[in-house]
Amino acid sequence: MAGPLRFGGDYNPEQWPRPVWEEDVRLMVEAGVNLVTLGVFSWAMLEPREGQYEFDWLRDVLDLLSRAGIGVDLATPTASPPPWVAARYPGTLPVDEAGLRYWPGSRQHFCVCSPDYRRLARNIVERLAKELGRHQAVEMWHIHNEYGCHVPYCYCDHHEHAFQSWLEVRYGSVGALNDAWGTAFWSQHYADFSEVAPPRRAPTVLNPSQVLDYLRFCNEAFLEEMLEEREILKRARPDLPATTNFMGPFKPLDYFAWARELDFVSTDNHLDPAGPEHPMESALHYDLVRSLNKSVPWMVMEQTSAHVNWRAHNVPKRPGSMRALSYQAVARGAGGVLFFQWRASRAGAEKFQSAMLGHAGSASPTWAEVAMLGRELEVLEVEDVPVESKAAICFSWPSWWALEGQGQPAHDLLLVDQLHWVYGPLFRSGVAVDFCQPGEELGHYGAVVVPSLYLLDEADGQNLVAYVESGGTAVISFWSGIVDAHDHVYGGPYGGPLRGLFGGDVVEVAPMKDDHRAQVAWADGSLTSTSFWVDRIIKTDGDVLARLDDGPYAGGPVVVASRRGGGSVLYVGSRLDEQGMERVYSHVPALWVPPDLRPPPGVERVVRRGDHVSYEFLMNHSDDEREVAVATGGRELLSGTPLASRLKLGPQEVAVVLRTT
Ligand code: GAL
Repeated sequence: MAGPLRFGGDYNPEQWPRPVWEEDVRLMVEAGVNLVTLGVFSWAMLEPREGQYEFDWLRDVLDLLSRAGIGVDLATPTASPPPWVAARYPGTLPVDEAGLRYWPGSRQHFCVCSPDYRRLARNIVERLAKELGRHQAVEMWHIHNEYGCHVPYCYCDHHEHAFQSWLEVRYGSVGALNDAWGTAFWSQHYADFSEVAPPRRAPTVLNPSQVLDYLRFCNEAFLEEMLEEREILKRARPDLPATTNFMGPFKPLDYFAWARELDFVSTDNHLDPAGPEHPMESALHYDLVRSLNKSVPWMVMEQTSAHVNWRAHNVPKRPGSMRALSYQAVARGAGGVLFFQWRASRAGAEKFQSAMLGHAGSASPTWAEVAMLGRELEVLEVEDVPVESKAAICFSWPSWWALEGQGQPAHDLLLVDQLHWVYGPLFRSGVAVDFCQPGEELGHYGAVVVPSLYLLDEADGQNLVAYVESGGTAVISFWSGIVDAHDHVYGGPYGGPLRGLFGGDVVEVAPMKDDHRAQVAWADGSLTSTSFWVDRIIKTDGDVLARLDDGPYAGGPVVVASRRGGGSVLYVGSRLDEQGMERVYSHVPALWVPPDLRPPPGVERVVRRGDHVSYEFLMNHSDDEREVAVATGGRELLSGTPLASRLKLGPQEVAVVLRTT
C-alpha cells in the first residue's frame, strides 16, 4: 500500500444521529485517523425493502469525511442480510449438520449457495458501486466481512446439489469418487453422484475423505461468492484496490488461495490479552498473513483498543499494550493499523466491545492511547522495506483440515499447537520467519520448518525434497507426509514423499498419556524432556542426536540429523520441550541466535531492511523495565533521543531504530 500508514477503524454512523457524525469527524481528525471502513452492516439501511434503495445518508457521511481529508474503505454489506431477505426467501437461511435452520436476529444468517442470496447480494453490491463508487473519499473496496466466521459450513439442500456438481467436475466418474473416498470401507460405495450428501450428522465417525472434500468445497463456495462481488466492484472502479478481511490462522478458509485474488491482504486480530503468550500468537498471526501473498501489501483491518465482549471473561489489554502490539504489526510489515470500531455502540450484541472512542467519550485513558498512537503514526516515516526473514514455516490448509479430522491417533494434535511449538522459541530469540506452502519456490530460504504436515501430495513432497537436495535445511516434525491428497495413508514406513529425508524408518507412532513426560538424552549427555507423542524410529542411517532416556521406548531415537544431496534435515519425532527445540535450532544458522545476542525476556525484536535503510523495532511486552543492547549508529524515531549502546524500555514501551548505509 503506497502512502502513509493507515490508521482508523470500522465506522457505523447508522447507529448515531447526525450531530454525532460531526463530532466523530472532529475527533477522528484529532486522533490522526486517515481511513475508516464504512457500510459493513448497512444493508438494511441501504435497501430497506427489496429493490428500494436509500444511499443519500451514506453519501452525506462520505462528504463529511472527505471534507476532513479522511479516506474510506467502502464495504459491501453482504455479511448481514436485512430481515426482509429471510422473510421473503427462507431458503437463504443456512442449515446446520443436524438439519436445523439458523434464524435471523444476529448476522451471517445466509447460505452462500442459495441462488436467492446470491442474486440479492449481487444487486446490492452493484447498486453500491454505482451510487458511491465514484465518490472521491473512496480509496478501496472491502468485500463482505469475515467470510465464514460464524457459519463456515452449511448443510442445506442447495449445498448438497452444488457439492454433487462440484464432485462430478472433480472426479468425472462415480468410480473415481469411490476410489478417492475409499468407499469399500463400511459399505459406502456410491452408484450415482445424486446419492452423495454433505457430511451431515451421522451415528459415528464420518468418511474422512468425504469430510475433507466438503471442507474444500465450502471454502471454494465462499471464494466464488467473493469473486463475484469483486468482479462487480472492479467493473465499476478498476483502479481501487480490493480486499476482504481475514482472521489470521482461521481454519475453514484456505487463505493462500484467497490472497491470490486480492490487491492487498487484510486481517482482524482479536487476540486474548489474558493469554500469557499473546504477543507471540499475534506475531505468528501477522507473519502468516504477510506470507499469504508475498507480492501484495497487507494491513490490520481490525484490532481492539482494549477488549472484545464475546469471551467468557474479557480482560482488556494492559495500558500501553495496544500501542506496543500496533507497532508489532508495523514491524512485521503492516501498511496500516485499524480498529473495530470507531465509536462504541450503545445497543446491540457488541455494546460492551471496546472501541477507539468508548462510552465515556474522549475522557477515557484508552482514547488517550488511541489518539497518541494515531498522532505518532501520522509522522512516523517508515519506508515499506521487507521484514528480515531468512526461514519459513511450511503451512497448508488442506493438511490442517485432514490432520484435525476424526479417527486420528491423537485428537488433541492440533495444528495451531504445533505452530506455537515450533514458532515460540524462534519468536523469543528474535528470529523472524515467513510462512510458505509446500509447493512454493523455497530456494531463497536458509531453512524450512515443517510441523506435522500430515497431508502432502507427491508434487509438493518432491518440491521439499528438491529444496533439501539443492542445499536447503529442513526441520521436519512427526506426523508429516502421512497421507495423500485424498487422505489415504501412504504405504510402508510413514513419510510418503518425505520418507527419504527422515534418516530412519518411522514404523509406528505412540501418543503419550496426558501427564507423561519422558527424558531425552542428547549425544553430549545433557537431558531435556518431551511429551505428547513419540515416533518409533528404526533403521536409522542418519546421525541420532537424541534418544529417549526412560519410559517404554527408552533408547529410541527422537532427533535424527542427515545429509541429503547438498542439504540437510533434522527430523524431530516427538514434541520436545523448549530447550530441546533450541538444541535442534542450534544446528541451523537461519534459525539460531546465540543467547547473548537475543532480546531480553518479554522484548520482541524485528528488523525490516532495505538496500540503504533498516529499522529495528523493539517492543517490550513485559510489565518491567528492560535494558536492550543495540548496535550504535542509529536514530531512535519515537523519542528522538540519541542512541546509547544500551536502550532502556519501560513496561510496554517501544523503540524504532533507524539506520542508514
Ligand atoms: C470481528 C467482526 C466485527 C466485530 C468484531 C468484534 O470479528 O468483523 O464486525 O464483530 O469482531 O470483536
